[in-house]
Amino acid sequence: MDKLVIEGGVRLKGEVTVSGAKNAVLPILAATLLTDEPCLIKGVPNLRDTNSMLKILRSLGKIADFDKGKVNVVAGKSSSYVAEYKLVSTMRASFCVLGPLLGRFKKAKVSLPGGCVIGARPVDLHLKGMRALGATIVIDSGYVIARTNKLRGAYIYLGGVYGSSVLATDNVMMAAVLASGKTIIESAACEPEVVDLADFLIKMGAKIKGHGTPVIEIEGVKHLHGAVHSIIPDRIEAGTLILASLITGGDVLVKNVQYQHLGALIDKLSEAGAHLEHHDGTLRVKAGRRLKPVNITTLPYPGFPTDMQAQMMSLMSVTGGISVITEKIYPDRFMHVSELNRMGAHIQREGPYAIVEGVKILSGAPVMASDLRASAGLVLAGLAAQGKTSISRIYHLERGYEFIEEKLINLGAKVWREKE
Ligand code: EPU
Repeated sequence: MDKLVIEGGVRLKGEVTVSGAKNAVLPILAATLLTDEPCLIKGVPNLRDTNSMLKILRSLGKIADFDKGKVNVVAGKSSSYVAEYKLVSTMRASFCVLGPLLGRFKKAKVSLPGGCVIGARPVDLHLKGMRALGATIVIDSGYVIARTNKLRGAYIYLGGVYGSSVLATDNVMMAAVLASGKTIIESAACEPEVVDLADFLIKMGAKIKGHGTPVIEIEGVKHLHGAVHSIIPDRIEAGTLILASLITGGDVLVKNVQYQHLGALIDKLSEAGAHLEHHDGTLRVKAGRRLKPVNITTLPYPGFPTDMQAQMMSLMSVTGGISVITEKIYPDRFMHVSELNRMGAHIQREGPYAIVEGVKILSGAPVMASDLRASAGLVLAGLAAQGKTSISRIYHLERGYEFIEEKLINLGAKVWREKE
């Protein structure tokens, strides 16, 4: 296993381009199961998670080639409706093959993904949606076995205790596009990644309205065809790079940014006093003024993204004053707190709250990454810290940040890999 070593204290400077969105490409690749015709997906980031999804598609009978940001998916000689535990357990997003398999083959056997370090992460809403569309579902030996004679459109309220669910909305939408009649998903997730999936499905011939709002309307069609699609830029990678510039006192031009996807983050950064210039798909982040602490509450889109919580906590750790961070999506997503405290941060966790008292400087230390976004938070802290930070279990970072070392090195950061 590799660890990432960072010699902190360098102001980042230069230009960096954001890659395609991980959380858009994963369900979009799953959606290619809805047709036998070829699909071409462009702007695909080269990530551990993308490769995991390609392995699942291959295990389900697709031929899927990945070359220089493009994925071609075509039908193989035979197909399967079983997604195995060893593949699904590597990544929760694999569970969203359930909807397309059920829509297409009327049966699916998909391993339950289980929990993960950021929380319990149940799939009850996914199953509720499939049942409402007319599937019978049995849980057997860790697998969801779903069957139907015919999926029928239905009214489905998909809100859960923590609000809407991104992958449940994706999964149900993908099952409903081939159901007969009209489906209404109420309390649907509004994330840009859900919209990107809907746009791809529409290119395949699906009839969908209202995506991007809490009420999605789907008129089932008999058949979907192949399509060509380009993935939207990754708003979480963009946000992480913006914070990398701010936390190092840098001057970075972030390219391939969809400004309107970053509303909550930009609003908070403006409140903190950051200077951001937006122009034609680029965002220049020039640190200058001292930042003020801001309070953050994570919420479903368009609220502040939980996937930016750890990174924002790192920034607040070195911002004078007190900020309160409230996690409303995954109340246990705080594994990074103790690691940041090892670097000299003053953070106290109280249930779903973290109270951050900004310090002047962090000091480099050996720390451990627990999940993807916690790793990103630790990378930011390491970039700002005095001295050397080594982050072990860095494979988490490879799940969601394409070429991150190269990108940071190009901005002047002193970052390298070492064997653990
Ligand atoms: N939830 C339920 N029941 C369900 C599904 C979800 O109670 O059946 C709860 C979850 O436990 C959580 C909340 O609903 O409290 C929201 O979870 P959601 O289902 O939206 O999460 P997800 O779809 O599994 C996606 C992203 C996550 C991101 C969340 C929230 C993908 C592949 N993953 O997960 O991304 O944190 O939405 O925005 O799209 C990441 O990229 O690091 C990551 C974890």
